[in-house]
Amino acid sequence: MSEKIVILDFGSQYTQVIARRVRECNVYSVIIHFNTPAAEIAALKPSGLILSGGPSSVYAADAPLPDPNLFALGVPVLGVCYGVQLFAQFLGGKVEKGLKREYGKGTLTVKDASCTLFAKLPKSLQVWNSHGDKLTKIPNGFKPVAVTDNSEYAAIECREKKFFGLQFHPEVVHTPRGKEIIANFVHGVCGCGKSWTMRNYVEQAVEEIRAQVGREKVVLGLSGGVDSSVAAALLHKAIGDQLTCIFVNNGVLRAREAEVVQQVFGKNFRIKLQYEDASKLFLSRLKGVTDPERKRKIIGKTFIEVFEQAIAASLKLDQAARVPGAAKGRTKFLAQGTLYPDVIESVPIGGNPAALIKSHHNVGGLPKKMKLQLVEPLKCLFKDEVRLLGEELGVPKEIVWRQPFPGPGLAVRILGEVTPARCEILRNADAIVVEEMKASGWYYKIWQSFAVLLPVRSVGVMGDERTYDYTIAIRAVESQDGMTADWVKLPYDLLEKLASRIINEVKGVNRCVLDITSKPPGTIEWE
Ligand code: XMP
Repeated sequence: MSEKIVILDFGSQYTQVIARRVRECNVYSVIIHFNTPAAEIAALKPSGLILSGGPSSVYAADAPLPDPNLFALGVPVLGVCYGVQLFAQFLGGKVEKGLKREYGKGTLTVKDASCTLFAKLPKSLQVWNSHGDKLTKIPNGFKPVAVTDNSEYAAIECREKKFFGLQFHPEVVHTPRGKEIIANFVHGVCGCGKSWTMRNYVEQAVEEIRAQVGREKVVLGLSGGVDSSVAAALLHKAIGDQLTCIFVNNGVLRAREAEVVQQVFGKNFRIKLQYEDASKLFLSRLKGVTDPERKRKIIGKTFIEVFEQAIAASLKLDQAARVPGAAKGRTKFLAQGTLYPDVIESVPIGGNPAALIKSHHNVGGLPKKMKLQLVEPLKCLFKDEVRLLGEELGVPKEIVWRQPFPGPGLAVRILGEVTPARCEILRNADAIVVEEMKASGWYYKIWQSFAVLLPVRSVGVMGDERTYDYTIAIRAVESQDGMTADWVKLPYDLLEKLASRIINEVKGVNRCVLDITSKPPGTIEWE
């Protein structure tokens, strides 16, 4: 991308949000480490720089500081919170501990409406603050353009140098017009156009994939989740039959999952799909296992084993099938749906939760001995962009907008032993939850909604008969990123319908309960 905004990360939990907001303005953005040398930054040819917030004080001995030559690059700069305090201090201003911490909602009054950042915005704006330090003197050449009750320098500018500073956070949703402030910076100040669209990205990515892969073959583990599905569609557009997708049935999939994947990718997209039904192997290894961590380990390890064998089989097939006109080359590449947040090197500065986001979950371990090179065509995209890309590529809504589903599948929602019969119970209950959530319009509004099979049996009565059956718990949560979550207050009539259908239609269940635990202290999944 020729036009880009470079964001220096000083450890704020909102750095990635800034990057996303910039991209929502159709301008490409990248996040780099705060101490990247100025020459390297210049080499990126940024149209503008944004200095993120951060948990430190600029005057602290261990404050994260950038290369000062950065301020002489002649590139427009926007400092957010810690970012403005930082450049103000570098350029001769003063930052001190505020008498009172300014946290939460505040009202910003724009004093100088001619400041480009506030173009087409009202004089009074709701903003979100989160800072203890404050600017007490601004550098020469700067002037205040907006104030809050607690801060006479809530926004400052040096028009000549194109340096701007905001004491509040324009990137968070609690600053409702913040995106327009960011848009004013990237378009109005930095002069960026609107070239970052998923339509343009498809063209660029297709070229890059072709250049990387040449005539070689590529394998991709397709799980049916959003990321691997969109990666499959993109790779297929770029290299057609050079791509083979491997779909592993681990025996703990949702109802119709294997069918849907084969229908969408095999039949509709006509992607070469290798279906590995290893359900018996997985279930036999899970027999008698009740410990959650052991379940996860067994599934992770077995997956890698099955996947490696499938790749080896695909390699053999390639060698055997030298049909005239067919793509030459052996499988040399392994594609993965890695996303941008997985590759950003988080700055682990005091208490930044974003630095901890690296999940403990994901299937680790590449098949190293196979000497495959990686193709990661989504690695500069955020999740919401992957969804837009999926839509652009014609991946059906059912897949593009599906809720997250854990790698170990239903196994972590079956408490106690995972047996074929208990899988069947949960699969049927889960299908009802998905169906009713979709029918009521709630499915696409929230982060996750699913059924959990508890190992508890209780007495019930059905018709004239006494029953002694299992309990299903319904879990519905709202979340931004899975790190924290709130339980969703679904309407009573929907809950009633869920419970009634599950108890009536799923054999083996006679009681339904609702999980009203938030995360923390609970986790989203039960195991
Ligand atoms: P927890 O249960 O840790 O889950 O609160 C947070 C989010 O991660 C999903 N999850 C997983 N995703 N592999 C995944 O790809 C896994 O092993 C896994 N375990 C949990 C979970 O569904 C929730 O969205």
